[in-house]
Amino acid sequence: MKKIIGLIALSLSAASFAAPEAQWLTVDNDVLAKIRPKLNKSVQTLFSAQGASVVKLTPSEVEQLSETIHNELHRCGGFISHESFEEAQNALSFQGDTYFAKSAIFSDYSIDQASKVAPMVAQVEEPSIRSMIEKLATFNTRYYKTETGTKSSEFIRDTWADLSKHRSDVKVELYKHPSWPQASIIMTIEGSEKSEEIVILGGHADSIAGMFGGSGRAPGADDNASGIATITEVIKILMNNNYKPKRTVQFMGYAAEEVGLLGSKDIAASYKAGNKKVVGVMQLDMTLFKGTADKDIVMMADFTNAAQNEFLGKLIDEYVKVSWGYSRCGYGCSDHASWTANGYPASIPFESAMEDLNHKIHTANDTLQNSGGDAKHAAKFAKLATAFIVELAK
Ligand code: BES
Ligand code: ZN
Repeated sequence: MKKIIGLIALSLSAASFAAPEAQWLTVDNDVLAKIRPKLNKSVQTLFSAQGASVVKLTPSEVEQLSETIHNELHRCGGFISHESFEEAQNALSFQGDTYFAKSAIFSDYSIDQASKVAPMVAQVEEPSIRSMIEKLATFNTRYYKTETGTKSSEFIRDTWADLSKHRSDVKVELYKHPSWPQASIIMTIEGSEKSEEIVILGGHADSIAGMFGGSGRAPGADDNASGIATITEVIKILMNNNYKPKRTVQFMGYAAEEVGLLGSKDIAASYKAGNKKVVGVMQLDMTLFKGTADKDIVMMADFTNAAQNEFLGKLIDEYVKVSWGYSRCGYGCSDHASWTANGYPASIPFESAMEDLNHKIHTANDTLQNSGGDAKHAAKFAKLATAFIVELAK
């Protein structure tokens, strides 16, 4: 919903590395229809699919588009920036199960690890999730271009390394990106039998607030200290139980999500280029604020893999025993979209339906207190993610 903010930040920051001549945007057709008459020039549709179109604009036209959407439609979002026409076209073409039906490398969604999963799920502790959220929110901002943004990624690396220090089959590394200072974090538990097959649990490590990101206070408690803290709880439990998967398991904290999914795009593209076999990806982005009264866990049905989403539904029934349902982002709203765009099955179990979104995100008021003051909601996601890993990496 705050794509505009991210996008303006992206176009400004991109300018300081290499000023782009043009950007290819994917824009919702309803947005395009309403703003077309208000723009200074006529905008040609280059490609259309899935209710959205690809258009080519200069950075200043992108800003004009942002402002027009704000002023005319009184909303945020509705478009995403891409570096090439091909990337924009792919983003519209590969939105989920149609693509995977053709190329799925994995379809064993059996559930038969209750003797391992059930005891671990029982060990999820709300206070430790809460404490990690509080620590992450202490950084003034985790914005991708700031000193504290860099430091916060190192803090996550150190926290995960400490939890796994007794394990020689586990490594925790910073994944450096060439074009901005904040690193992503990757923790790897090497698989004992099928180590080339990879199961991924990830969430973004950065935060943002205000129109220009920058140095302003951005606690990002819900978006997305909660996802990182939930992943940290899963790591704690797996390490405490000396868990050893047959497939390789990786935990990822992505840099620079808030400015266009930059970190995850970089990583997912390099996995594809290296022909890595990723059998499943779960994204945790916002697990703190319980916005929808009758649903605990809401899966986004777009830009995700339908078969894997169904598997998550079954895991919730079996191990978490809370209510769940589906919603849609309407655009590639988080890092799962980077994996989907590169042909990998991804899901995003989310804290609420889209219409009940936490409107404090991307402001200085995205605090633990403003999301209810405890991490009980997040604990449900830690249970689900534990089950996902143990059942998929077996
Ligand atoms: N946590 C949000 C994404 C989100 C919003 C997920 C609503 C599910 C429902 C994420 O950090 C974010 O802000 N994403 C951007 C998009 C990105 C491409 C810059 C957004 O939604 O504007
Ligand atoms: Zn966000």
